[in-house]
This record gives sequence, C-alpha cells and structure tokens, in this order.
Amino acid sequence: MKIYFRKCNKCGNLIWSFNDTSITCCNEKMRIVNANEVDASFEKHIPQYEIKDNKITIKVNHVMEDNHFIMWIMMVSDNEINYKEFKPGDVPEVTFDYKGKCKLYSYCNLHSLWTNNIE
Ligand SMILES: [Fe+2]
Repeated sequence: MKIYFRKCNKCGNLIWSFNDTSITCCNEKMRIVNANEVDASFEKHIPQYEIKDNKITIKVNHVMEDNHFIMWIMMVSDNEINYKEFKPGDVPEVTFDYKGKCKLYSYCNLHSLWTNNIE
C-alpha cells in the first residue's frame, strides 16, 4: 500500500495516511515529507535489514541520545503495516514476520524520514 507522511510546519506534528488528500494542522496545509530528502548521513539513517527463516530484522545504525534518536521503524507491505516506536537509550532494532516485497521506513527526530525498498 502507498503511505503518505505529512508534517505541520508550525507544531511539528507528523502523521501518515493512505491517500494524498490535503490535511490541515494549525490552520495550515501540512507539507508532504519525502524520504531520504534531508542532507544527512545515509548510512546512519537508512533502515538496514536481514532476512532469515521468514523473519526480518530491521535496524538503524544511529545514536539514541536524548535529543537525537530514531523515533520509529515501520515496515509497509501490500496489505499490512508493522511499526515500532523507540525512545532514547533503546536499540533501534525490531524483528517482524517477513512476507516479501515491502518498504522500510525509519524516522530520526532531527533528520526526518528515511526509506529502503525490498523488492
Ligand atoms: Fe539523525
């Protein structure tokens, strides 16, 4: 499934939805957030993965400090979303059932949205 991420320029609220209909927050149209668009280290933000025995382990090679950390990892396939949130001090790694083609996302509180495709 296609998923759209949007952020409010005023309050920073981040949302996702399944259609590209305009959404308003703080009386302003939310902007679409595209993955891998921030000028920051790819290798520290792109979700990495390993597939074994129908399980996928997704990890991000990123610091987990109080003011700089990976907030969540998401796996989006044709008909399913798997999601895990993290807080500072956690290890940004999660294992889900693997069912084939999907998109992986990670979100850094400072460096926004990153993605990796599994064909
Ligand atoms: Fe970052």
